[in-house]
Amino acid sequence: MKNSEKPTPNKTVHTKDNKNIVSPLADAASELKDFFIDSLKDIYWAENALVSALPKMASNATSPALTVAILEHLSVTENQVVRLQKVFELLGEKAEGKKCEAMAGLLKEGDSILQETVPGAVRDAGIIAASQKIEHYEIATYGTLCAFAKVLGENDAAKLLTQTLSEEKEADCLLNDIALNAVNMVAAE
Ligand SMILES: [Fe+2]
Ligand SMILES: [Fe+2]
Repeated sequence: MKNSEKPTPNKTVHTKDNKNIVSPLADAASELKDFFIDSLKDIYWAENALVSALPKMASNATSPALTVAILEHLSVTENQVVRLQKVFELLGEKAEGKKCEAMAGLLKEGDSILQETVPGAVRDAGIIAASQKIEHYEIATYGTLCAFAKVLGENDAAKLLTQTLSEEKEADCLLNDIALNAVNMVAAE
C-alpha cells in the first residue's frame, strides 16, 4: 500500500484534564461514503454487463418459461441501470462503472456452462444455477448498499436501492420455481 492510500487515522482530541477522546465519526462517515460510491460503480458495471449478457443466456435456454423469465429480467435490469444513474445524480456523482471482478467471474462461469452443454433440460438447469448465483450476488450487494445509504442519511437513494433489492429477490424466487420444473425434466429424461 502506498503512503497516500493509507487510511486516515482517527483523530485524537486532548482535553484539559488530559483525557484522550477518539472522535472517528467525521472521518468514518466520509470513508463510508467513498466506499458506498465505489460499490455503486461496481454494481453499475455489473448491471451493464448483465444487459449485454442476458440476451445470449435467453437465446440458449430451451424452456419457454426460462426464456421469458430471462428476457423479462433483462428489461428489469435495464431499468435498474437507469435507477442507479438516479442514485449517482442524488449523490452529486457522475454515473460511471468500475469493473466488478465478481460479476465478471459469474458471467464467465455462465458462458462455460453454455460451452459444456447441449440445448436441453441439463443446459437449462445450468443456466438457472448460473442465474441464481448472479441474483444472490446482487441481493447481497444491494442489501449492503441499502444499509450504507440509510446510515449515511441518503434516504432517497436508499428507497431506490430497496426497489432494486426487491426486484432481485423476486427474480430469484421465480428462478426457484423454474428450477423445480427443470430438475423434474432432467429426472424424466
Ligand atoms: Fe440487477
Ligand atoms: Fe438481477
